[in-house]
Amino acid sequence: MKSRYAIILAAGQGTRMKSKLHKVLHPILEQPMIRYVINALKPASVNELVTVVGHGAEEVKAEIGDESSFVLQEEQLGTAHAVMQAEALLNEKKGTTIVVCGDTPLITSETYEQLFAHHESLQSKATILTTDMDNPTGYGRVLRSENMEVERIVEHKDATDAEKNVKEINTGTYCFDNEALFAALKQVDNNNAQGEYYLPDVIEILKAQGEKVAAFKTDDETETIGINDRVALANAGKVMKNRLNEQHLRNGVTIEDPDHTYIGPNVVIEQDVIIEPGTMITGETTIGAGTFIGANCEIANCIIGKDNVIRQSVVKNSKIGNKTNVGPFAHIRPDTSVGDRARIGNFVETKKSDIGADTKVSHLSYIGDAQLGKDINVGCGTVTVNFDGNEKHQTTIEDEAFIGCNTNLIAPITIGKGALVAAGSTIYNDVPEDALAIARSKQSSKEGYARKILDK
Ligand code: UD1
Ligand code: CA
Repeated sequence: MKSRYAIILAAGQGTRMKSKLHKVLHPILEQPMIRYVINALKPASVNELVTVVGHGAEEVKAEIGDESSFVLQEEQLGTAHAVMQAEALLNEKKGTTIVVCGDTPLITSETYEQLFAHHESLQSKATILTTDMDNPTGYGRVLRSENMEVERIVEHKDATDAEKNVKEINTGTYCFDNEALFAALKQVDNNNAQGEYYLPDVIEILKAQGEKVAAFKTDDETETIGINDRVALANAGKVMKNRLNEQHLRNGVTIEDPDHTYIGPNVVIEQDVIIEPGTMITGETTIGAGTFIGANCEIANCIIGKDNVIRQSVVKNSKIGNKTNVGPFAHIRPDTSVGDRARIGNFVETKKSDIGADTKVSHLSYIGDAQLGKDINVGCGTVTVNFDGNEKHQTTIEDEAFIGCNTNLIAPITIGKGALVAAGSTIYNDVPEDALAIARSKQSSKEGYARKILDK
């Protein structure tokens, strides 16, 4: 196989997004769009990947990390000028260079591979990835001769009315013979409606030199959406959501209403998981077989085991065992680990805590910076008082302890194994194993007083 190189164009400002965030960092299902492009290019095994950065260069580089080399386009003078910046790294290399826009995140690995294969088999100097669009407004149009050979590309803003009627568009993705590309770029000028150096002009230049140029047309127009504004971003989000949901459905996951269920690209879901509407599952999340995720849950970066029931809850950066119940209305904050057959009930918030197997925190509690052992019952309204205004402190509750309702556990504190804390206590000294701790004021009942007060 010939050597392969890739250039991703990501220097433009993205003015039409009307955003402080650089365009290619706008997320789709909580993953920046440029990451989809990088990931889709991976199977093509390019020898070198170069990303052209400009606006938001530091942020874009931080997102991509060491998966690409970078060149800086200081002034955004157009897509041809952007590609030219990669010359220092790729000039004189022999092989095929794919140029991809950072704002077309839906193109799949399969399509990239088909484009490479088409280009390599035809041995053309340039092959454009094109598609027919029902509404091609805004895209460059592919103009062909009478015998259907590709002649050139005209930008929407430069097109005549007749040219605007052409449905076949330039997706902004091309394969080039690397040396021919950099030679032709030197001839591109900026005599056009936008005063920019257009990469598509390379096609006409190569053609004029008698070189072979070609097109590979894909029939899925949704794949090639270029995201220039938030309308396109929303449309691309829908397409990606449907594509991912369909994969899960085919893998044996029940998604009751795929139109209203949002699952990120790095989520792994086992068979017989049921997901109700309004739920969003993102980040690096795994969900084990047989787990039920009820309506309106928000789950991100979690490892969730098998046969759990999670209802109407927010669960972030945490671990849930197997056969555990969460919610409704629980808030599992980062670094929580919940064991098997446990229960985190309504209006319970947890953070940086381990909660052992068979332990139940069923109602209205806050568990933060705490280590809870096995088989513990935490009564309604228990609070780990973890913050003294300056520092956070740890609470430890050992196996089989029973914490009565409405208890404050002032950390740092340890409740020993099998200990019993009476309801309404404010506990500030460690409680030994098997001890009963009561820390509440004594009750007094004054006979007949109620009537006296109420009858006044
Ligand atoms: C471009 C194509 C158009 C095609 C469309 C497909 C040109 C002139 N036009 O138009 O034919 O139909 O994509 O979506 O190429 N960029 C830079 N530096 C620059 C300018 C742009 O890095 O100086 C980057 C942008 O960040 C973006 C990509 O190149 O990722 C495309 O630029 P954009 O301005 O979005 O081009 P379109 O108008 O969409
Ligand atoms: Ca674009």
